[in-house]
Amino acid sequence: MSNLSNEYVQRRERLMAKLGQGTAIFRTAPPAIHHHTVEYNFRQDSDFYYLTGFKEPDAVVVLAPHHNEHQFVMFVRPKDLEKETWAGLRMGVDAAKEQLGADEVYPIEELDEKLPQYLEKADRIYYQMGRDRAFDDTVIRHWQTLMGKKYQKTGVGPTALVDPRPLMGAMRKVKSAEELGLIRKAIAISVEAHHAAMAMAKPGCQEHQIQAEMEYIFRRAGGQGPAYPSIVASGENACILHYTENNCQMQDGELLLVDAGCCYDYYNGDITRTYPVGQDFTAEQRILYEIVLEAEEKAIAQAQPGKPYSAIHDTAVGVIVDGLMELGLLKGDREEMIKEEKYKPFYMHRTGHWLGIDVHDIGVYKHGEAEVLLEPGHLFTIEPGIYISPNIKPAEEQPEIDKRWHGIGIRIEDDILITKTGHEILTKDVPKKIDEIQSYRQG
Ligand code: GLY
Ligand code: MN
Ligand code: MN
Repeated sequence: MSNLSNEYVQRRERLMAKLGQGTAIFRTAPPAIHHHTVEYNFRQDSDFYYLTGFKEPDAVVVLAPHHNEHQFVMFVRPKDLEKETWAGLRMGVDAAKEQLGADEVYPIEELDEKLPQYLEKADRIYYQMGRDRAFDDTVIRHWQTLMGKKYQKTGVGPTALVDPRPLMGAMRKVKSAEELGLIRKAIAISVEAHHAAMAMAKPGCQEHQIQAEMEYIFRRAGGQGPAYPSIVASGENACILHYTENNCQMQDGELLLVDAGCCYDYYNGDITRTYPVGQDFTAEQRILYEIVLEAEEKAIAQAQPGKPYSAIHDTAVGVIVDGLMELGLLKGDREEMIKEEKYKPFYMHRTGHWLGIDVHDIGVYKHGEAEVLLEPGHLFTIEPGIYISPNIKPAEEQPEIDKRWHGIGIRIEDDILITKTGHEILTKDVPKKIDEIQSYRQG
């Protein structure tokens, strides 16, 4: 349980205000098997965590704003001395009621018996199918029982199962001051780790040594660990977007791309920097780096309240296309390059994503044809790149790529918060301008 507990009350109240006559059900994450009888460390389901701060498995939250007595109900694992000896302490039913502020808490074993009373007067059930098949079956069974004879007699019952993602996405997309405190902490640790990586990388160093140094810093500072599998990619490995083997030795003349961030109390940093393993950029590396940096800086300039989210990607693509055309790596009409995505062999991903409890956080990027407009409290990454794999296959009617460009992969990624007046680059303390990188690496 983190120290945001008042905020959990407010979050549930805000959600319940939107449920009307509906009942929402949230289930903890299913355990993930590492091998045989050994599980991975448990990570709570993000919506469940957002609404409760509760970190144990095998629990259910029911929010029933229309219920006469209990609007916030939990089902949790009861205390069990023997099981706790093997697998860790449990909060238990009594403490859960007190610490989580639930109107009622039951042992999880009583779910089948107690759940129907919270659903029978609801006109819909909010529940996200597909995350836990066994529990999906439980929800469907109760739903269909209620919609059987009882509904026929009374005309009252949940006629629809509704995905809560639109509601949760809208709430989670705007970060509170308390959330930003945790995010700043996650980012401060991530920044420290990137500084350490920059100081350490040199010819002969192993990618996994950089990974180990960074993840040591994450954990030592009290983080849960890496926010996602750390990417430490030297040379052409950087052309694999999610390269995580991290088992190569770095060579002079290569670039090193490091994409790593710390998870701190369920909030995440997500930072990428690319710099020379040795003393300096080669001419080709420098030219491409300047294009990516310009794309990133111009995209960041679009991060303003009221601007469409799509302007960020469109701006980055425009700069990258201009740069590649100037180098003769793309040829033809600029607008056609963009419309037909002929730049995609070089730049195949989007320019960022919402960031929060999930590194790729919940929340839509478009409302159908309508734009999502940026608002204060929105947090996202901006992360353009250029990747020229030795296996690159140019788009139709595009020139072959001279080998001197092969094996260069560059990405620059920052975490951006929209403020009332503009934006804040939360990750700005990791050098990215060429002269800053040089002086940091040499000094
Ligand atoms: N490292 C995952 C990402 O940047 O989205
Ligand atoms: Mn990212
Ligand atoms: Mn990243």
